[in-house]
Amino acid sequence: MFTDIQICLAEVVAGSAAWLGRGLSCVCAQRRESDARPSFDLTPAQEECLQRLQSRIEVSYDSSISEHQEALRALWNASFPEEELRDLISEQWKEMGWQGKDPSTDFRGGGFISLENLLFFARNYPKSFQDLLRKQEGDRALWEYPFAVAGVNITFMLIQMLDLEAVKPRSMAGAIFLKFLSENESAFDLLYCITFKLMDNQWLAMHASYMDFNTVMKSTRCQLERELLLEDVSRLEDLPSYSLLTR
Ligand SMILES: *[C@@H]1O[C@H](CO)[C@@H](O)[C@H](O)[C@H]1NC(C)=O
Ligand SMILES: *[C@@H]1O[C@H](CO)[C@@H](O)[C@H](O)[C@H]1NC(C)=O
Repeated sequence: MFTDIQICLAEVVAGSAAWLGRGLSCVCAQRRESDARPSFDLTPAQEECLQRLQSRIEVSYDSSISEHQEALRALWNASFPEEELRDLISEQWKEMGWQGKDPSTDFRGGGFISLENLLFFARNYPKSFQDLLRKQEGDRALWEYPFAVAGVNITFMLIQMLDLEAVKPRSMAGAIFLKFLSENESAFDLLYCITFKLMDNQWLAMHASYMDFNTVMKSTRCQLERELLLEDVSRLEDLPSYSLLTR
């Protein structure tokens, strides 16, 4: 039996000062149950924050709810302020990296929170959001990852990585995250922005193509877990990858 506890083994390439991207790659290993750390007990405040986040995670995208439609429209406006969305179901969505003309079919994995994450990103870090949406930085691959679909995968990966559907954290990274969440309710959304930017950074450093997307996601996850465990990180803004974000 293996637990979900993942440990990251940092592998520093000798002589390289660049610790992001190629300079450092992470190898994820799983520990046996017997080696697992003891349970991570939550304070009542942390428990409440976790429950609030869990109730956000449980919400599926529902196109019959006007708040959900509004959020989708708001995402379009934040993404392409210069172009009007003709209809909620429109070929235009493909410009943003949705698979078809109805983004709601792509939310299945992540639910409404994946839309909220994208909106938070667009509103709070518009420069980074636009750079990623329009593939502005670095030598881009011939076969790029679709922006919006990748965003939904990031939401999903974070929920898995932090084990947010469990009653209490089962990994050190999860326990540390809950501490940040109890200090700032936006912690999940902020971590999402950091992760998206980090993923793109690794994508470029690995000269990846769409076939490598899962490998890039794995390496992103490892890097994040490693950063969360760094000693002098006492809030998300202290994560080394936070510095990749621009407002
Ligand atoms: C996202 O993950 C799902 C499975 O979880 C996969 O089918 C899909 O291809 C992934 N999307 C991207 C952008 O790779
Ligand atoms: C919480 O984090 C968000 C995102 O970084 C930030 O805008 C906000 O000011 C923070 N709130 C507090 C109370 O620190």
